[in-house]
Amino acid sequence: MKITLRTTACLLAICYLSAFVPQRLLKTLFDQAQQQTRLMLVEMANVPQTAGKPALVSPRTLTAEGALQAVAARDWTSGFFPGELWYLYEYTGQKEWADQARTFTNRLESEKTNGGTHDMGFKLYCSYGNGYRLTRDPAYRPILIEAARTLATRFKPTAGIIRSWDHHKEVWQCPVIIDNMMNLELLFAATRLTGDSTFYKIAVSHARMTMKNHYRPDNSSYHVVDYDTLTGKVLKKNTHQGFNDESAWARGQAWGLYGYTVCYRETKDPQFLKQAQAIARFMLDHPRMPADLVPYYDFDAPGIPNEPRDVSAAAIMASALFELSTYVPGTPYRAKAEQVITSLAKSYASPVGKNHGFLLLHSTGAKTFERDVPLVYADYYYLEALLRAKKIGDNKPLF
Ligand code: GLY
Repeated sequence: MKITLRTTACLLAICYLSAFVPQRLLKTLFDQAQQQTRLMLVEMANVPQTAGKPALVSPRTLTAEGALQAVAARDWTSGFFPGELWYLYEYTGQKEWADQARTFTNRLESEKTNGGTHDMGFKLYCSYGNGYRLTRDPAYRPILIEAARTLATRFKPTAGIIRSWDHHKEVWQCPVIIDNMMNLELLFAATRLTGDSTFYKIAVSHARMTMKNHYRPDNSSYHVVDYDTLTGKVLKKNTHQGFNDESAWARGQAWGLYGYTVCYRETKDPQFLKQAQAIARFMLDHPRMPADLVPYYDFDAPGIPNEPRDVSAAAIMASALFELSTYVPGTPYRAKAEQVITSLAKSYASPVGKNHGFLLLHSTGAKTFERDVPLVYADYYYLEALLRAKKIGDNKPLF
């Protein structure tokens, strides 16, 4: 079927009238995603490479001039595009997408030993993790295990947390950012793959300490918590990408929601479920959450409503809410997640053939950079959310 703007508009109208996203709309959105991703593949093939510099292997965003910005394997966003390709394979079953997913995934292998970052889950679980889940390729297994081993070297036993950044040593002794909750899925997987419970214990410790030290009484999260690794004491609480130290940076709230939902999936510990639900309440009931459920980049940005939205936060939140809905029946999480993906499809999607192949517009990386741009991780979690909508609609398990 040729997808016209009219077809999409009609399907979106049906969606508003019914409780849940119709399968036909999901098919249309996946067809559009495939068209856009084919364009992105052409764009990536034309990215200029510089001799002597690391290869640019994945798309990240658009520059202020509107050019495609691609990144090297070491960039924290390098795993998302391979992950999108795996999701297109999962939806379509087509070899075309599996082949592309393998090509883009294989470019990241060097990262498995990069111990200078905590971003191992983002890079290697979105790529190799999805690849292993879908293909059980035995070559992917040792790569995932080595990546988890490398991540575990950043665990600080006295403080009970995994160190996030090595940069800004003049500001923080041992910074932990809320984003780090997203790397725990790799550790849980490594325990399943090896039978070694060390990874699981590190993940649980990190999640518990983050619950204790990152969260405020209103269930919003700080972005950065700095630890003294000798005493385990908290030194300070700051932001790096949000509006200010005391504000609620939207994507940070979404990372926490997703992270604690994963922790509940993996441990069945009710304290993690309670935490995920408390975060969902903070976000969904926030007086400055817009009616279309696409948050401003920070819930406390002073210029609201004249502040940029963060579509990536909405996409992460939607995907997490779909999963959460399967653990607590009778809650509004599924309906809210469906509302988010409907909003994204209706008002935030790139026209097909434009924007170098990105799927969604209007994300915000931080207060001071990447404001109101496409970001590859918004596209990744959007596709993940669409797949979850389909599986739940078909009464199939998510994993
Ligand atoms: N470091 C991940 C983020 O910007 O959300």
